[in-house]
Amino acid sequence: MSTKYPIIISQTKFMHRDTLHYPFEERGLQFGDGVYEVIRIYHGAYYLLDEHINRLFRSAAAVKITLPFTKAEITDLLHALLLKNDVKTDAKVYLQATRGSAPREHTFPSNVTANFYAYVTEQPRNKANLENGVQTITKRDVRWENCYIKSLNLLPNVLAKQEAKEHGCYEAILYRDGLVTECSSSNVYLVKDGKIYTHPATRQILHGCVRIRVEQFAKKLGIPFSETGFSLDDIATADELFLSSSTSEIMPIIAVDDKPIGNGKPGSITKQLQAEYEQDAAITPEHTTI
Ligand code: PDD
Repeated sequence: MSTKYPIIISQTKFMHRDTLHYPFEERGLQFGDGVYEVIRIYHGAYYLLDEHINRLFRSAAAVKITLPFTKAEITDLLHALLLKNDVKTDAKVYLQATRGSAPREHTFPSNVTANFYAYVTEQPRNKANLENGVQTITKRDVRWENCYIKSLNLLPNVLAKQEAKEHGCYEAILYRDGLVTECSSSNVYLVKDGKIYTHPATRQILHGCVRIRVEQFAKKLGIPFSETGFSLDDIATADELFLSSSTSEIMPIIAVDDKPIGNGKPGSITKQLQAEYEQDAAITPEHTTI
């Protein structure tokens, strides 16, 4: 396959992406038995790299996968990956670690090493969506109770996001027991009377790396940030709504289930947070956009 960035990491070595093959009896392929990360790159430099590496190690420990490197080693490898591909654009790294290759048995195989790979793809900023905002649907959150683990088991997320797409929407907002948890691949926030609300960082949501920053930006701007969940009813009277992720950044939500949020335009607190994000990620006007 032709790609701008053909060099990948496999285990702790570099190789061409076309030369990596796995046996079909692989735990990630057969059980989704693994964990992953998506790390944003702006102008050839990582954004929030340490946060992602820390979460990778937390996820792996939670599912008892031993990673084949230390945090310092993977940090060096990921930096070298950008150099080897001469990455200068806005991009992202996808990486995953699975329990390994072994005959199919639910229980852990003995004497198996984790399979790991990481590769770079281009990821231009979606400027139109960032400026105009996006539409969403709501869906019951039918995922398991350990959503803080960034696991490869994404079927409920995939189905929810596909349904959003079929409705002409960007994301699906998930709710459980009446409270909004997060979106299919992002965290979500509500603004009411000058205060930001979001689901607490429990086992029921992924603790987003951008979410950490949203809280810091809010603090800097003097905007109260409350880890208090909100309900679908609260959405009906919200002033603003926005989501966050490494690929979406801080994205205004302008409608939920065909109903406009506020005046149906990105709100002022969301815009202030977006400005902080651009400053923090050192984004300049010449950055690539779609
Ligand atoms: N998704 N919640 C879920 C369920 C996610 O999958 C993600 C990230 C987030 C935001 O996390 P962060 O701010 O660390 O990117 C929240 C990535 C981008 C993905 O699966 O493609």
